[in-house]
Amino acid sequence: MSTQSIKVENLVKTFGQGENSINVIDGASFSVEKGELVALIAPSGAGKTTLLMMIGCVQEPTSGQIYLGDEKVYDNKWLTRETRKIRREKIGFIFQAHYLIPFLTVLENVTLLPQTNGKSKLEANTKAMELLTYFDIADKAHSMPSSLSGGQNQRVAIARALANNPEIILADEPTAALDLTRSIDVVKMLKKIAIDQNVAVIMVTHDEAMLPLCDRILKIDNKKVISVATKEITSV
Ligand SMILES: Nc1ncnc2c1ncn2[C@@H]1O[C@H](COP(=O)(O)OP(=O)(O)OP(=O)(O)O)[C@@H](O)[C@H]1O
Ligand SMILES: [Mg+2]
Repeated sequence: MSTQSIKVENLVKTFGQGENSINVIDGASFSVEKGELVALIAPSGAGKTTLLMMIGCVQEPTSGQIYLGDEKVYDNKWLTRETRKIRREKIGFIFQAHYLIPFLTVLENVTLLPQTNGKSKLEANTKAMELLTYFDIADKAHSMPSSLSGGQNQRVAIARALANNPEIILADEPTAALDLTRSIDVVKMLKKIAIDQNVAVIMVTHDEAMLPLCDRILKIDNKKVISVATKEITSV
C-alpha cells in the first residue's frame, strides 16, 4: 500500500473548441499523501474548482492521468463507467455554502448518503452520532439547519462529508462564509481529520491566515501546479 492518496500526471483541461477554447489547466502534475492537509491557491478564475472537480470525478479532464488511492481512475479517458460510484465511495466534498437540505434534520442530512449507499439506518445513525459528537454538535442532531449558526452548519457539512469514510476530502473555500475564529476552527478540524482518519485533504482558500495551518501549498501557476512549503508563501 502506498502512502499516496491522490496523484495527477500531465492533467489538461480545455473548455470549448477551436478559437473560443480556453485552456485552464495545461500539464499539471502533483500528488497528495494520506494524512496531509494541502491548501490549493491561485487567483480567481485560475482553475481551482475545475481541478477539484476533475479529481472528484465530477468533471472530465481533456487528457492526463488521475490516481485515487491505488486505483488509476483516468487515463486520457475514465477507466470506469461508474465515476459516480468512485465519487460516492472515495470522496467527501465540502463547499463554501454548506448545502444542507433545509427540510431534513442535522442527523438526517448526515445519514442521507450512507443510506443511499446501502448502509442500514442504525449503522448510518451510529456513525453520524459519532461524527456529530466529534464535532461537538451532537445536541443539534434533531434540529433543522436553519436553527444553527453558519459555523455549526459548516461542521455538520464536514460531518456529512466524512460519513462515508472517504479516502479523500475536497473542500472548495470551506471557510469563505466564516469569521476568522470559526475559519481557524474548521481548518484545524480538517487537519485533525487528515491525521486521525489518514485522509488526504485538498482545501481551496483565498485566506492567507489559513495557510500556516496547512502542511503544504499547491499553487496554480501558469496553468500548472507547483508545490510550495507553507513558510515560503508570501501572498495568495
Ligand atoms: N463549464 C465551463 N465552461 C466554460 N468555461 C468554464 C467552465 N467552468 C469553468 N470555466 C472557466 O474556467 C476557468 C477556471 O474556472 P474555475 O471555476 O475553476 O476557477 P477558480 O480558480 O475556482 O476561481 P474562483 O476563485 O473564482 O472560484 C474560468 O475562466 C472559467 O470561466
Ligand atoms: Mg472556484
